[in-house]
Amino acid sequence: MASFSGFEEILKTNEPLAPHTWFGLGGPAQFFAKPRSLDQLQALVVRAHDEGLAVRLLGGGSNLLVRPEGVSGLVIHLADPTFARIEVKRTEVIAGAGAKLGHVISTSIREGLGGLEALVGIPGTIGGALHGNAGSRGGDIGQWTCHATVLSAAGRVIERKREDMVFAYRDSSLDELVIVEARFQLEQDDPVELTKRMQKQWIQKKAAQPLGHQSAGCIFKNPRGMSAGMLIDQAGLKGARVGGAEVSTRHANFIVADPGCTTNDVLQLIEKVRAQVAARLGVDLELEIEIW
Ligand code: EPU
Repeated sequence: MASFSGFEEILKTNEPLAPHTWFGLGGPAQFFAKPRSLDQLQALVVRAHDEGLAVRLLGGGSNLLVRPEGVSGLVIHLADPTFARIEVKRTEVIAGAGAKLGHVISTSIREGLGGLEALVGIPGTIGGALHGNAGSRGGDIGQWTCHATVLSAAGRVIERKREDMVFAYRDSSLDELVIVEARFQLEQDDPVELTKRMQKQWIQKKAAQPLGHQSAGCIFKNPRGMSAGMLIDQAGLKGARVGGAEVSTRHANFIVADPGCTTNDVLQLIEKVRAQVAARLGVDLELEIEIW
């Protein structure tokens, strides 16, 4: 605690991370902070940097699996409303990294701004979505991003313009320590049409994916030109289990955690799937979720 004196109001030690993740699994964070302002966030990052402590950013916890031993160092959660603001200026939407992607999508649609509706049903925050360039077949968040404010590991604020950012499949060049805020340049459209499009996407997604279960998003990235879900299915692994972890019978690229499931069950199931897809189909699957 000594290393974070002065931050007592916003800092906890040994904070369980499981309740902050969709899997609901895993151990605690050595230090866990919810800053209330950009200045406070910056000061925290500088202090951790000076102390040589690892810093991790927690978004919506929807793409994250935490190991039983938890993590050492500092976990920062941008859960304060300061970091969740959503503002619309003509055809631009400005959103804090802590804003829920779903809220940004619904605000955009209400304002008659199109583009992000293709991302409906993707959980998590704007920060997490930008970090991994979240998307679907209809597009990804990067293609609409025109500006981002980030913080370096040393606590320096950096402004990134469209031309300074590169987004690829589930990959973004925004690899500085913290994404603070982003701006999206959207297209004017009819809110009624946008709502219809969004509802269609939502229905398709609900039919294809085990939404609402204790799971994260897709576990593996799609190998170039292929679908990881289809490969895992073809390898005969739908319904495969280790302990309380099961490959979803609805969509094979999801793992559902039943009551009593542990992180190790999920990790072992991931390894089993990887090994069997490699052995049977000759494809090496790469993880999409992050493991802490
Ligand atoms: N399929 C199977 N068995 C399965 C799952 C899928 O045969 O168990 C087949 C489907 O029938 C379809 C094909 O595989 O012919 C593709 O499936 P789907 O349309 O569900 O898309 P996907 O490639 O599996 C991707 C993204 C999803 C996103 C959907 C819809 C990745 C890894 N996955 O899945 O994103 O929701 O398209 O746009 O890029 C995520 O990233 O977390 C995620 C869930």
